[in-house]
Amino acid sequence: MSSTDKAWEKWGANDPYFAVLTLDKFHNKNLNKKLKAEFFASGQYDIGLTLKAVAKMDKSYAVNTALDFGCGVGRLTIPLARRSKHAIGLDVSESMLKEAQANVPPELLKKVSFIKLNDNLVNLPKNYNFIFSYIVFQHIPKKRGYAIANELLKNLDEGGFAALHFTIHEPDRIVFKLVRRLSHKIFFVNWLVNLYIRRPLTAPNMQMNIYKLDQLVKIFRNNGIQDVVCKSDAHGRGMMGVMIIGKKQAQESKERFSGR
Ligand SMILES: C[S@@+](CC[C@H](N)C(=O)[O-])C[C@H]1O[C@@H](n2cnc3c(N)ncnc32)[C@H](O)[C@@H]1O
Repeated sequence: MSSTDKAWEKWGANDPYFAVLTLDKFHNKNLNKKLKAEFFASGQYDIGLTLKAVAKMDKSYAVNTALDFGCGVGRLTIPLARRSKHAIGLDVSESMLKEAQANVPPELLKKVSFIKLNDNLVNLPKNYNFIFSYIVFQHIPKKRGYAIANELLKNLDEGGFAALHFTIHEPDRIVFKLVRRLSHKIFFVNWLVNLYIRRPLTAPNMQMNIYKLDQLVKIFRNNGIQDVVCKSDAHGRGMMGVMIIGKKQAQESKERFSGR
């Protein structure tokens, strides 16, 4: 198990809602019914936004089986189930998955399932025509993240859509970059960061990894997704992310466009 997987298991067991959206109101000790409803409403909004962008690219497309990579407590898997035939949440954390399962409303129980992923993705489902992921890859070291993105796109059905989110920019300040990197490796740097951002001193490190857009576009392209739309978003502390959305072409049009 990698160090980031261990950290996520701890977050899932101790403070899962805060770990997903990192707003103080979502700490376990503050959560109530109203805040939980607000938390899940944000997921419905995020899914709506992405599916609106997808509909602009292809009016006739309908989600059949959807995968939600890094599903956490099901904030996005549940609204995805409402907009598809079946939604499958994937995560490395058992405790996140347990919480997600408990959050599924009775009327959706038959339309949602969850799978614990292992390192080499051998249990990745086959036959899905939508792959979605939001605020997940940024927490995975780049080398592993690129390999996962490639695998997820490789197995996507032809004619299916992918919408994958990555952080691609951090403030251009040497100290910021250095502290971020050192906090991944040295526990007391992580403690200092926790003090600075007012988290409990020994809270597990939540890695932030900055991906390269050109590398990502190449991975999409190598998997038959030539035309992509990028929706940018601003995170806290000057970080910038991008949701890359695109349709996997049928083999025949892949060959036709290969010279482009
Ligand atoms: C910030 S949360 C986001 C959850 C969900 N996508 C959402 O927006 O509500 C990140 C999630 O990614 C999961 N995760 C981290 N590394 C992962 C990996 N290598 N494979 C699958 N899931 C992972 C964590 O366990 C956690 O549930």
